[in-house]
Amino acid sequence: MSDDTKSPTVARPSLAILISGRGSNMLAIARACQSGELQATVALVISNRPDAPGLEAARQMGIDTAVIDHKTFASRHQFDQALHQRLQQAHPDWVVLAGFMRILTGGFVDQWQGRMLNIHPSLLPKYPGLDTHARAIAAGDSHAGASVHIVSPELDAGPVVSQIKIAIEPDDTADSLAQRVLCEEHALYIKALKQCVNRNRNSADDSVLP
Ligand code: GRF
Repeated sequence: MSDDTKSPTVARPSLAILISGRGSNMLAIARACQSGELQATVALVISNRPDAPGLEAARQMGIDTAVIDHKTFASRHQFDQALHQRLQQAHPDWVVLAGFMRILTGGFVDQWQGRMLNIHPSLLPKYPGLDTHARAIAAGDSHAGASVHIVSPELDAGPVVSQIKIAIEPDDTADSLAQRVLCEEHALYIKALKQCVNRNRNSADDSVLP
């Protein structure tokens, strides 16, 4: 008798998540993978800071972690080479930058081109770089937000996959705004990843982009 209930096992796309600190986006993604909301697996979490609180949180979820401490490398290039080698061992389908506070060299980005995402707390192309919320408030903007984008060699400049927009309240400070945006970032990153991991991983098709 044939067993129609059995379907062929399809390997889930794997993610390597790069962090430098708290790791709340990483955790939201890992929980979405665990619950099945996101059909992907977190293969590895890498931090460039040994004391990043997100590392322990990832370990507690049973996720493999690695530290590649940028302070132990003589140059940005050497750090990126070590990062690339560790990533190659894990061979993820996607590299996910989530609060990873390092500027990556063009050579590194080229090696993961089209397979590396970042979340940035602004309505890109506005406010690449740091202090995005303070800059939005100082400019008198009516809205702030966050963007998930494909990483390109230029900082915070790659094609945007998904964006969330939030009204700036009159009494907002950079901190209060950052907190509200962060809550939305988690859902935004999961939504963007759903779009990306559904893409045929061997295809050069860029249809995840708007
Ligand atoms: C987030 O606001 C993200 O947009 C930015 O860095 C912050 C990281 O927060 N790139 P967390 O470590 O994910 O909590």
